[in-house]
Amino acid sequence: MTSHIALNDGNAIPRVGLGVWRLADGEAPRLVSEAIDAGYRHIDTAQAYQNEAGVGKGVKLAKIRRRDIWITSKLQTSLQGYDSALRAFDQTIKKLELDQLDLFLVHWPAPARGKYVETWKAFIELQQQGRIRSIGVSNFLPEHLERIIGETGVTPAVNQIELHPRFQQGASRDWHKQHGIVTESYSPLGGQGTALLQDAIIDRIAKRHGKSPAQVIVRWHLQLDLVVLPKSSKPERAVENLDVWNFALTEEDMSEIAGLDSPDGKTLPHPNELNG
Ligand SMILES: NC(=O)c1ccc[n+]([C@@H]2O[C@H](COP(=O)([O-])OP(=O)(O)OC[C@H]3O[C@@H](n4cnc5c(N)ncnc54)[C@H](OP(=O)(O)O)[C@@H]3O)[C@@H](O)[C@H]2O)c1
Repeated sequence: MTSHIALNDGNAIPRVGLGVWRLADGEAPRLVSEAIDAGYRHIDTAQAYQNEAGVGKGVKLAKIRRRDIWITSKLQTSLQGYDSALRAFDQTIKKLELDQLDLFLVHWPAPARGKYVETWKAFIELQQQGRIRSIGVSNFLPEHLERIIGETGVTPAVNQIELHPRFQQGASRDWHKQHGIVTESYSPLGGQGTALLQDAIIDRIAKRHGKSPAQVIVRWHLQLDLVVLPKSSKPERAVENLDVWNFALTEEDMSEIAGLDSPDGKTLPHPNELNG
């Protein structure tokens, strides 16, 4: 398996990224720089996480060339709209201390605001100006994707959605594949305070391979051709979550994990509900 996945715009995104939701801005420089020095090549932040400045400092501290690290951020939902998205992007790039962002996402469709199409038009403009390499969305359902593609002709490079063994998102994954959109898994270990890491089936598979439950789950995402964004505030766990390249889950392992899927497995709000 290669370390990167090709996007529909010609760029290539690293398959494993460090999620930094709930990481304090002051802690981000150390954690991010250590993670990059330990091998991470992709960091997933957002305006709403309020740690873009800390992430930017971490990238500067790390021993890495700018072109070898992929940085994603996301537009805060309250800043949707054509002009406000353009202005908000200026803030992101300033906080991260970058000339160009690798990937910018519309964080939530927020359909009650009615602004995600004009917001998407601003993203297209920013990409055309060369200020963002790739543009995408998050928490979009096929109905939202159809609308932005239909009204602009531009298909997002990725859709970042909640996805883990308890909520496997088969229908969205299929839709994305048919339309050339890469699926990114957020809350890939099951989210904050996750019980998934204590699951008996995952534990049995982990013991069979001499790996940890978290490593089995990260590997499961990779074998489904997903971009996976595990978060840990503990450097040793972040390193553990990246050490997934020297083993493979069998077909039997994959089908046992497929059996964990549940319609009640979602932990964050339904995409149409979060409009704040
Ligand atoms: N687009 C969106 O709307 C959206 C929403 C949610 C998340 N995300 C992205 O996805 C990323 C990951 O999601 P998430 O933070 O919700 O959850 P997650 O990565 O599924 O799980 C994080 C939890 O697992 C623990 N953990 C991590 N590695 C571990 C290990 N090896 N062993 C034991 N426990 C471990 C973490 O604790 P410690 O920190 O204490 O290690 C934390 O409690 C976020 O950081 C963010 O970048 C995006």
